[in-house]
Amino acid sequence: MNNPTAKITINEKSYDCPIIQGTLGDKAIDITKLRTNSGYITLDEGFANTGACKSAITFIDGEQGKLWYRGIPIEVLAENSTFIETAYLIIYGDLPTRKQMSAFSQKVLRNASLHEGMMHFFDGGFPFTAHPMAILSSLLNSVGCYYPNMVTNHREQDLEHFDDAAALLLSKVRTIAAMAYRMKNGLPLIYPKRDLGYSQNFLHMMFTEPYHEYYPHDDITKALDLVLLLHADHEQNCSTSTVRMVASSGANLFASVSAGVCALWGPLHGGANQQVIQMLEEIHRSGDDGTKFIESAKAGKAKLMGFGHRLYKTYDPRAKILRAAAERVLQIVKLKDPLLDIAQRLEEKARSDSYFVDRNLYPNVDFYSGIILKAIGMPTDMFTVMFAIGRMPGWIAHWQEVASQVKGKINRPRQIYVGHDLRDYVKMRYREGEIPTDYETDEHKSFGGGSSENASAKA
Ligand code: ACO
Repeated sequence: MNNPTAKITINEKSYDCPIIQGTLGDKAIDITKLRTNSGYITLDEGFANTGACKSAITFIDGEQGKLWYRGIPIEVLAENSTFIETAYLIIYGDLPTRKQMSAFSQKVLRNASLHEGMMHFFDGGFPFTAHPMAILSSLLNSVGCYYPNMVTNHREQDLEHFDDAAALLLSKVRTIAAMAYRMKNGLPLIYPKRDLGYSQNFLHMMFTEPYHEYYPHDDITKALDLVLLLHADHEQNCSTSTVRMVASSGANLFASVSAGVCALWGPLHGGANQQVIQMLEEIHRSGDDGTKFIESAKAGKAKLMGFGHRLYKTYDPRAKILRAAAERVLQIVKLKDPLLDIAQRLEEKARSDSYFVDRNLYPNVDFYSGIILKAIGMPTDMFTVMFAIGRMPGWIAHWQEVASQVKGKINRPRQIYVGHDLRDYVKMRYREGEIPTDYETDEHKSFGGGSSENASAKA
């Protein structure tokens, strides 16, 4: 049987384009040769309908609310796995054996501390006002400088050290994050401990004092681990696409994930978790029960942060898990957070309002994660940093997928140019109003010779 093709007809001429099918029925039209054959490109601002790559890491069915890491549903992983085991799954493609898991955990543990040279960054290297995402992005790139064998920018050589670089980044991202928080708050820096698990070690570095060791409740550690696990990958989102874009140029893993942090920072992406809490606090302060806010969102005057998703047209499965986890965590810390009530009320109102229903707007991962992080004691400006720690396995796996492609191409989209037609370069004095003499008329402009309005102004 012939391979299936799609016919694209432009001005009565047809062009055959191959049809590509994914393992689970995703379908795409391969338009790679369309411009060569027809002179046309496709235009899809925001890439809402553009596949940028083939990937074997994460599957999402946004209509049915499915999210699978390497074939395993997120609900199953949330119930049975840990962040570090899930990180292994995402990076290496399969669940680890006991031996593999032990070796991987040990490697992550051994890499927890930072090179002493890096500690100077926390001693006046950044102002106290620096956002921890700025610190994180800078230091993830800088960390590579201490391991020159891992940052050669030659794919084969960088890949030879991939296992070490992956464990190192997974581990150090958490140490950098905790130290950024302590530096910003004028607190003494706390070193990681050898006998603590991943999330417990992070909480230790965040909250221990030299005179008071912090021992988190097991359920708090589990809640944090769950938040990280649920963020571990999400296929071609804005930050992961950024990592892949940078990686496609041959850039090393450290530079690529550092760029991912910058993309994640924006309020329409990872920055939304911080904005959700700020929105809930504002609603609480104003005495609104959510009704006024919903009305202003419908009128386009505000955005219901933590709602809506490019892919999910039903409930984001991560939000469902986090909503239940938020209730559990608040019981553990014996807190009655009014923000959870407001969030649940907003959700109820939105889900019965045609504005949100017609647009398929449901809570996304950021809607309830902030309530958990707040209950754990995490300051709001660390929320997006928590997202970055969680997303690290995904970024690492996507970098490797790109770097391992034998005939990998640099990512380089095209555009439709809508700027000026060809025009003259007019020298500064004539731009300032000096009228050229007849002798100067040709000399006052340089190169271009186009349709230029300058040329006619001079005439
Ligand atoms: N509140 C109110 N209206 C919304 C919201 C919202 N949160 N999200 C989308 N809409 C409306 C839009 O105004 C638009 O309405 P219109 O058709 O009348 O113009 C319609 O729904 C479609 O929205 P788009 O912005 O076109 O959808 P897009 O897929 O481009 O954006 C996004 C998705 C960015 C997530 C958007 O829903 C949003 O801004 N949400 C709030 C921010 C947020 O929570 N971001 C986190 C996303 S998850 C993540 O990155 C981890």
